[in-house]
Amino acid sequence: MSITLIRYAVIGAGGISATHLHAIAKLPAVEVVGISDPADPATWRMPDGYEAVPKFTDPAKMLRETKPDLVSICTPNKFHAELSILALEHGAHVACEKPMAMTVAEAEAMEAARAKAGKHGGINFSYRNVGAFRFARELIARGDLGKLHRVNCVYLQSFLGAPAQPYTWRNDISLAGFGALGDLGVHMLDGVNFITGLDYQRVVGLAQTLIPEKPDAAGKPQRITTDTNAAWLSELTGGVIACFETSQVAPGYGNFFRIELSGEGGTLAVQSDTPDAIWLRAGPTLTRYGTWQTDIPKQHLPTEYMRYFQPVTPAGIVRAIRGEKSAEYATFADGLRTQRMLEAIGASMKSKAWVTIS
Ligand SMILES: NC(=O)c1ccc[n+]([C@@H]2O[C@H](COP(=O)([O-])OP(=O)(O)OC[C@H]3O[C@@H](n4cnc5c(N)ncnc54)[C@H](O)[C@@H]3O)[C@@H](O)[C@H]2O)c1
Repeated sequence: MSITLIRYAVIGAGGISATHLHAIAKLPAVEVVGISDPADPATWRMPDGYEAVPKFTDPAKMLRETKPDLVSICTPNKFHAELSILALEHGAHVACEKPMAMTVAEAEAMEAARAKAGKHGGINFSYRNVGAFRFARELIARGDLGKLHRVNCVYLQSFLGAPAQPYTWRNDISLAGFGALGDLGVHMLDGVNFITGLDYQRVVGLAQTLIPEKPDAAGKPQRITTDTNAAWLSELTGGVIACFETSQVAPGYGNFFRIELSGEGGTLAVQSDTPDAIWLRAGPTLTRYGTWQTDIPKQHLPTEYMRYFQPVTPAGIVRAIRGEKSAEYATFADGLRTQRMLEAIGASMKSKAWVTIS
């Protein structure tokens, strides 16, 4: 059976663009027709094999000339909204990086443009593709943990504290919109919602900037205008209490994302450093995964969950365009829900008061 060729393009040729290209490369009949980035192509961080792909510095020109069916937006956060809308207006489906936008108003404009164009719009919440996270979601959906009553989530990195790490756009509030909250917090917010199915009802948060300045790549000191640490407490559907903490300057942590949940049937945890394992402290309904114990070291996942490691949002959208029944991806609506939380947490950090999520 023949499948339709999909013309694919990327806007923003930095670090994350390689993972979009790798995911797309695993699919049949997808042609990379263009890559656009205003920087000198010699500085682009492209994987090998894409040397012959037409390069552009103007995304509108690329969209006009190459007419892609699907575009990945892999730029700093400030440009997500305008470039997603530009691609939709040129008739393309869009796979945008996280966070969806700088503000709720921008994210709403993206969703309105997507609906008007009648296209797919996805946000790359990459942890949705980790096997352990999916398995945890399935256990909870079928009630193995019973009624949930507790969520604890941490996402810790150390890169910003490293002397060798220069100041980048991530440290500039006008380009990033948020610091650790928007960079790592979006994965936490989406991850907890994805695994538990519970929504956020109200929130109170605190943030700090622990490193006031860093030299840029040219050695010139620059002031850090984003948060480096953030913590928030949230009440989820049904009164479930959820605690969150994130940092870009936690010594010893390269990339550590952990979600722990307790319900009346047991406690479960997933971690980014053990993506093929799930941690269970079993109550009565979890015994099919272990013995009746209070502390089960590690349960390896059924092998079918391994398949979730690779696909990221653009691959899910390719499958959806082709009408594959199993196709799925995090949508603009999912991105908008998370954006509302970012804005509410930011407002709470300023007012030092609880904010109800509308
Ligand atoms: N899903 C994830 O887990 C994950 C991981 C890393 C980064 N990200 C997201 O990906 C995006 C890019 O991050 P990165 O780490 O690749 O950054 P990066 O600094 O490595 O690359 C950004 C690229 O965008 C280019 N750029 C800047 N302005 C542009 C514009 N107006 N139009 C087109 N290109 C432009 C830059 O020249 C650079 O090549 C961010 O939104 C970030 O939050 C997501």
